[in-house]
Amino acid sequence: MGAGFKVSSFSSEHFFLLHKSVVQSVLNCSLCSLFFLFFFTGMEGDSDLQFLLQGGDLLKVLSPSWKKTRYFRLMEDCKTIWRESKRTFKDSQTFSLDDISSVRLGRQSEGLRKNTEDQVEGRCFSIMFKSRRKNLDLIASSEEEAKQWFNSLQKVLSNRNNLNIHWISSCLRKADKNKDDKMTQSELKNFLRLINIKVDDDYAEMLFQKCDKSKSGHLSGEEIEHFYDLLTHREEIDVIYGAYAKTTGFMSSQNLVDFLKKEQREKATLADAHNIIQKHEPDENAKEKKLLSKDGFLIYMHYPETLVLKPDHREVYQDMSQPLNRYFISSSHNTYLMEDQLSGPSSTEAYVRALLKSCRCVELDVWDGSDNEPVIYHGYTLTSKILFRDAIKSIKEYAFKTSDYPVILSLENHCSVEQQEVMAHHLSSILGSALVTSPLGEGMPTDFPSPEELKGKFLIKGKRLNKLEASFAPEAAEADDADVTEEDESNNEDEDEQKEDEKRKLAKELSGMVVYCKSVHFHSFEDARQNLSFYEMSSFKEQKALALAEESANSFIRHNVDKLSRIYPAGSRTDSSNYNPVPLWNAGCQLVALNFQTTCTDMDVNQGRFLVNGKSGYILKPAFLRDVDTEFDPITLTRGDWLKHKTLHVLVVSAQQLPKMNNKKFSFVDPLVKVQVYGVPADVAERQTVAVENNGFNPAWNESFQFDVYVPDLALVRFTIEDHDSTSGNEFIGQYTLPFNSLNMGYRQVPLLNKNGDVLSSAGLFVHIMVLDAE
Ligand SMILES: *[C@@H]1O[C@H](CO)[C@@H](O)[C@H](O)[C@H]1NC(C)=O
Ligand SMILES: *[C@@H]1O[C@H](CO)[C@@H](O)[C@H](O)[C@H]1NC(C)=O
Repeated sequence: MGAGFKVSSFSSEHFFLLHKSVVQSVLNCSLCSLFFLFFFTGMEGDSDLQFLLQGGDLLKVLSPSWKKTRYFRLMEDCKTIWRESKRTFKDSQTFSLDDISSVRLGRQSEGLRKNTEDQVEGRCFSIMFKSRRKNLDLIASSEEEAKQWFNSLQKVLSNRNNLNIHWISSCLRKADKNKDDKMTQSELKNFLRLINIKVDDDYAEMLFQKCDKSKSGHLSGEEIEHFYDLLTHREEIDVIYGAYAKTTGFMSSQNLVDFLKKEQREKATLADAHNIIQKHEPDENAKEKKLLSKDGFLIYMHYPETLVLKPDHREVYQDMSQPLNRYFISSSHNTYLMEDQLSGPSSTEAYVRALLKSCRCVELDVWDGSDNEPVIYHGYTLTSKILFRDAIKSIKEYAFKTSDYPVILSLENHCSVEQQEVMAHHLSSILGSALVTSPLGEGMPTDFPSPEELKGKFLIKGKRLNKLEASFAPEAAEADDADVTEEDESNNEDEDEQKEDEKRKLAKELSGMVVYCKSVHFHSFEDARQNLSFYEMSSFKEQKALALAEESANSFIRHNVDKLSRIYPAGSRTDSSNYNPVPLWNAGCQLVALNFQTTCTDMDVNQGRFLVNGKSGYILKPAFLRDVDTEFDPITLTRGDWLKHKTLHVLVVSAQQLPKMNNKKFSFVDPLVKVQVYGVPADVAERQTVAVENNGFNPAWNESFQFDVYVPDLALVRFTIEDHDSTSGNEFIGQYTLPFNSLNMGYRQVPLLNKNGDVLSSAGLFVHIMVLDAE
């Protein structure tokens, strides 16, 4: 490491973006050690890191018979894990830490439970990936070693921040092909290609000559730094900073207060400004004088609290003590499926993934299995089967990791009475006291409990032999008969299945577990009002629900004021595609179930809807969807206090470090930004910028759009970046969707999520947002 290197005074959040003085230090050192420099910050000499760099043998498990020893280690880039079977290096045998979603200690994956014995429990761990890549199931030689792997990986993963420096420096390192710490002109071109800037030969030549002050024919040290400066320069930040830095070229605390009030519309005091400078200013001199440098300003602008999403909306900020049906509840359909609806695999892993995304209503399609063990699969198709028991175990384990609020298990029951009894037994023995088996409080309830009261609890949604009231009338209860055929309920997506189901009997044990979510057939809103109790709920196929939401929106809304509705995708969506949930939320439907395994715009919108309120999976419906006498109609837009006409001004400023979506050697990103508003039909709108040609590194647009928003309480805003391609269609790069009411105003960074909903590290979009009351 170079002697001039000194970064110890920065805490890790300062590395959230590229910091110039760090780059200077880094660039003064040899290129080969660039990677280490950043990564070892705070981890220098760390024993966990050393352990991973050294690596060791692990038993890789694929099946009960296929268990083979492989050597695993972290490569010197501190980012790539290498699995060695032969002595040769192959890309396919590596994976990046960025691809890992979690590491789990013990036999916690489906594969390990199936393919290994109980006694190796302590020696097992699994690496789960963000994409659909299969888990890596591993066995260490001892429990200590397994723990060491687990702890080391956890530590390195949690230290892996969104470091741009990391990204740039890895590109620099790759570009320095002959590892001589100097950059020739061809290496420079290679570097530009890696960071996604297309530079024609003349421009590259010009840049090179400009930086090669020593005329040595290569860049080194400060010359690379200068070159880097030319590249990373953000004019928009210069302009913004320049407009407020009125104190000998710096921002004083007062200048910062002015910026926060005028641009960001924040209530800021001098004390707040002091705190910001204290926390984010990297230059000790400036900090002492209570000044914010441009670097400090840029660091502050990337701090999580200052992003486009209001910081207080990241936490649970809504009232969670209202009846359950007053909330939108994140819901999934055919949760067990990993892929399509006809032949794809089923897996308990699919439940884990949905629950970790804070889905609060999962579906279990249960059929008779062999050995009197009920199984889950998509009936009459070739999808693979999993044991009901295993699914419940996984659900129990992962239900409350992201959110404490209740989980609804939606049972699609096709079993014989015998196997229904087994289901009931598994539910009560595995879930224990977390399963709600009788109403909360004394006597017959008149309304739902709240998410708050139901924290850590499971509710069963399914059929029930009688009304809940019967359990409060002892004589009537005696009359219950397990042989009674269950009520007609055309919940099924397939008419044939339905006919068969009607003949089937319902086990008393299972029926008794249905308390607050009894499935019943929907006839009409009138019938529901007269004849149904609050806990009796219906499921609607998407087309039926959409028709109701369009033709009788107000009746649907009133229906949903005291009852729950669940919507599911059409059976014809055999490819597991989805539908737009927004019109159904507009009609007050709580459980709008989507195929969570599918990556698509509809899932992005769902993720955006449930992004706020602490990712609890519950969002309180606006007041006009909770009032029995509401006159609100999203289609005709009746007058009322839901109409709060606003204008949304979005200035799309710039983007940073957009990844290349394809790996073709000579292709470059031509990015364009789309801004969309979702909500009531009158608010739906879309605008897009021009495409910036051949620059994914620091494209700038400076284009502004204006939107009229009439019902802000139901609106969502989506930012999408695409790679323009007029021949084969635009390619998706990243997106971010958030509720309109959760927008922060002023200059804001927008994080970008990839297709799977994971953050694209390093990349970002920079916008200016202003919401004004319309005349
Ligand atoms: C963006 O546009 C505004 C006004 O249209 C202008 O004042 C500003 O200088 C522009 N910024 C850049 C970086 O082009
Ligand atoms: C309520 O149920 C009764 C008995 O099944 C039925 O006759 C009546 O028509 C129902 N009410 C409505 C409005 O459908």
